[in-house]
Amino acid sequence: MALREIRDEILQADLPLSEEASNMVFGRGNHDAPVFIVGEAPGEDEDREGEPFVGRSGDVLSDGLSQAGLEEGEDTYIANMVKYRPPNNRDPRVDEIQAHAPFLLEQIHAVHPAIIVSLGNTASEFFKGDDEVFSGITQERGETFSVDVHGVEHRVLPTFHPAATLYDASLKDTFIDDLNRVRELI
Ligand code: URA
Repeated sequence: MALREIRDEILQADLPLSEEASNMVFGRGNHDAPVFIVGEAPGEDEDREGEPFVGRSGDVLSDGLSQAGLEEGEDTYIANMVKYRPPNNRDPRVDEIQAHAPFLLEQIHAVHPAIIVSLGNTASEFFKGDDEVFSGITQERGETFSVDVHGVEHRVLPTFHPAATLYDASLKDTFIDDLNRVRELI
C-alpha cells in the first residue's frame, strides 16, 4: 500500500485520540528512506502543524541527524507510534498504541528502510514485542535487534528520545553516537 493510501485509511478509521486532536500527524521524509525513525506521539506543535517533530524535540533530532552526517528528508522518514496528540501530552496508553500500530507497520512496509530507529521507551518496547523483556531505554539503547514487519526482517536500533536530552544534556553525546552508528549501518 502506498503512503498516500495509508494516510487515507487513518483519516477514515475511528482511532482513539482522534476526537481531541486538531490534526492527524502522519509522517514526513523520503518515501524510500534507508532510515525510518519512530517517535512516540505528537506534542502541541505537531498537533497544530500536522507534522512530526517540529517542536523542541524536533530541533534536537534535526541537529543530531546533521551531526551524524544523515540528511533529514533524504536519508530519513519520520513517524510516530500514535498519530494523534494525547490530551495534555500524557503518555499514550497500551490500547491506543495497539490501535495505531498497524498503520505504523504499514508505513514501515511501504518505505522498506534498511534500519528502524526507535526513539525512547514507548517505541523501543513496542518493537521488542511481548515475548522479550524490555529493561528500559538506558539499558537497551545502541543494541540492534531484528523485527518482522509483514514478513520482512528489519533491524531496529533503539536510542534515547530527543526530549530526554532536553531534560538531561549528558545524554546528547550518546544520542549522537547512536545516530552515527545508524549512518555506519546503512
Ligand atoms: N515527540 C514525539 O515522540 N513525536 C513528535 O512528533 C514530537 C515529539
